[in-house]
Amino acid sequence: MNFDETKDRVGTFSAKFDAMQTFAGVPAEDGIAMWVADMDFSAADCVLDILREQADHGYLGYPGPAASVSDAIAGWMKAAHDWDVDPDWISYSHGVVAGFGMALEAFSDPGDDIILFTPVYHAFFKKAAAKRRGVVQSEMVLKDGRYFMDFDTLETQLTGREKIAVLCSPHNPGGRLWSAEEIRELAAFCQKHDLLLLSDEIHMDLAFPDAKHVPTAIAAPDAIDRLVVITAASKGFNLAGGETGFMIVPDPALREKLAPVQLEYGGTPNRFGMLMTRAAFTGGQDWSEAVRAYLADNFALWRDRISAIPGISVMDMPSTYLTWVDFAGTGMSPEETERRIRQDARIAQSPGADFGKGGENFHRFNIAMPRPRLIEAIERMEKAFGDLQ
Ligand SMILES: Cc1ncc(COP(=O)(O)O)c(C=O)c1O
Repeated sequence: MNFDETKDRVGTFSAKFDAMQTFAGVPAEDGIAMWVADMDFSAADCVLDILREQADHGYLGYPGPAASVSDAIAGWMKAAHDWDVDPDWISYSHGVVAGFGMALEAFSDPGDDIILFTPVYHAFFKKAAAKRRGVVQSEMVLKDGRYFMDFDTLETQLTGREKIAVLCSPHNPGGRLWSAEEIRELAAFCQKHDLLLLSDEIHMDLAFPDAKHVPTAIAAPDAIDRLVVITAASKGFNLAGGETGFMIVPDPALREKLAPVQLEYGGTPNRFGMLMTRAAFTGGQDWSEAVRAYLADNFALWRDRISAIPGISVMDMPSTYLTWVDFAGTGMSPEETERRIRQDARIAQSPGADFGKGGENFHRFNIAMPRPRLIEAIERMEKAFGDLQ
């Protein structure tokens, strides 16, 4: 595990690098990719070993049965998150966003609304639009540099068409870990308004060393009959190319509703994603601890140096690598801050406006990269905004 090692990803069929010029106008050759949410680190040896084994064997037929993967997931959920998951509650999706779409299809109809706590992961908006579901944007409130859900204002926004409330836990962007109490408050809101609680916990394995992710099912056991969890090993273990997610649905009636959608989209994503998930959850504990410690140190460095630039403030965070940076204090327009980031610093970031209401003056930066490259990114930002010093 040498996270400081820098490997060139350009030309390796990497969306983050090979689509960077098209997305941000930043040439991959001398740009720094801080947009797509994967890490510039090699996966754990246990994961790479299973892929080598497959290649050496050479037979790449249909995979299955999934039971050994579900057992590994249940084992990890207990060991890492203290959640007793029955393997029968687990089903699979071609990534978590696909699972999100499947949940929309199973538990709402076209014309219904879903509630998103914004700013939040942009793909939720796109998937809702593709499925012809409306979005109620419940803008979170910033207090002491942290986001809070605002149920009082949300009450006034409801139209009666809402069917699903989406929790992003840990939150993307900004890595907010929701407390058990906050999750219970959301669960009570869902109970009151008869909403499905759709909990995206894909970042569950990225809490920094002193922090802890609380699974929604543990925080709000009374809401278990309205809970659908969508998650994966892909963020915590850097396996996004495996395009494999899973859904945990403890309630049998909800599982029954999901079953026809599952049938339509297919129950086993692919051989490699399934095997990587199993390998990570059975042998990846040390790698997981090491990467989280490395990310925490990366974050502290990034936060301290970038927040020292007058007018720019990095939101403090206890998990993930998706930092959320507020440029409002610069007095510049989002277009100008983006121009400086992309053209002057040659960094591809994600514009905050893509994350919905409240994101307009922010940009999101992925800091999961070898430290020497992160330091280079910091220096470029300091130079691009040098006139503010
Ligand atoms: C909250 C959240 N859900 C889902 C995804 C993507 O999941 P997948 O690649 O498995 O579709 C991401 C990726 O950044 C994410 O942040």
